[in-house]
Amino acid sequence: MLTITKKAALRKRLKAISATGQTIGLVPTMGNLHAGHLKLIDSAKRNSDFVVCTVFINPLQFGPGEDLSVYPRTLDEDARKLAAARCDCLFAPSVKELYGSNIQHQTTVHVPELTGMLCGKSRPGHFDGVATVVNKLFNLVRPDTAFFGLKDYQQLLVIRKMNVDLGLGVEVFGIETQRESSGLALSSRNNALSAEQRERASLIYQCLVDTADQIKLGKKNFTDLEQSATLCLQEAGIETDYFSVCEAGNLQAATERSTELVILAAAQVGSSRLIDNIRLDLDD
Ligand code: PAJ
Repeated sequence: MLTITKKAALRKRLKAISATGQTIGLVPTMGNLHAGHLKLIDSAKRNSDFVVCTVFINPLQFGPGEDLSVYPRTLDEDARKLAAARCDCLFAPSVKELYGSNIQHQTTVHVPELTGMLCGKSRPGHFDGVATVVNKLFNLVRPDTAFFGLKDYQQLLVIRKMNVDLGLGVEVFGIETQRESSGLALSSRNNALSAEQRERASLIYQCLVDTADQIKLGKKNFTDLEQSATLCLQEAGIETDYFSVCEAGNLQAATERSTELVILAAAQVGSSRLIDNIRLDLDD
C-alpha cells in the first residue's frame, strides 16, 4: 500500500491511475480504524479499481470544548489495518498540508436545511466542517465512488446533497452500520467507555429497535414513542440529546403519512457522545 502525505504527490499518482482507465474509490476517515471503517474499504474494493483511504482529523468539524485534542491518533496501527484490508493508498496529510496556514479564513461549504436540526443543532458549524473537508477531498482525489457509513446518517445526507448541489458527480454509497454483538454501533468514541458504560450504551440500539418494532405494529404517535425511549434511556443513566422519528429523505419530523422513516438517537455516555439510527420502510 502506498502512503502519501502531500497533495501534489497524491494528484500525480491518481492522474496516472486514471490514465489507465481504472476507477478510483474514496473512503474518508478520521482514523482510529475499526471494523466499521474496514467494511467501507471492503465495499470500496468491490466497487472500484483503486481505493484511497484518507486519515485526517479535521479540526474544522470540532466545536470549542469538543474532543479534538483527545481524539485518538493511531496512524501506524491504521496503516497496518488498511494494508491488511488491501487498501491501495493511504492519504494522511497534516492540517497545514490540507488547509494551508490560515484555517480560520477558509472558503467553506454550507449545506442548508439538513444541517440545522438534530446533531447540527447541538454542534453548530459541525456539518460545515464536514462538508468543507469532504468537498476538498472530492476535488483532490476526483473519485468515481465514495463510501460513507449509514451510522452517521445525517452526515451522509449532507454529503449527498452537497454532491448533487455542487455537481461533483461522485457516486456516493451508504454502508450498513457495523455493530458489536450487543448491538452497540462501533465508534472510535467507544474506546473512552468503561466495560460497564459500554454495556449500558447498547441500550441505545435496543431502544431504536424497540421503537421500530412498535411502529411496525402500527403505532403512529411518534412523540409518545420518542418520549418513552428518552425516559427508558434516562432511567438507565443515559442523557439523550435527541431521540427522533424522522422522514428518511429530509429528516423532517415523521407524520402519519410517512412511509420511509429513520429513527435517530444521540446520547451522552460518560465522556462520549454516541449516535446511532435505524431505518425502516413501512411499504416493505
Ligand atoms: P469517522 O468518524 O472516522 O468515520 C469515517 C467513516 O466511517 C464515516 O463514513 C462513518 O459513517 C463510517 N463509520 C463509522 N462508524 C461506523 C460503523 N460502526 N459502521 C459502518 N461505518 C462506520 O465520519 C467521519 O470520520 C468524518 O466526519 C469524515 C467523513 C471523515 C469527514 O472528516
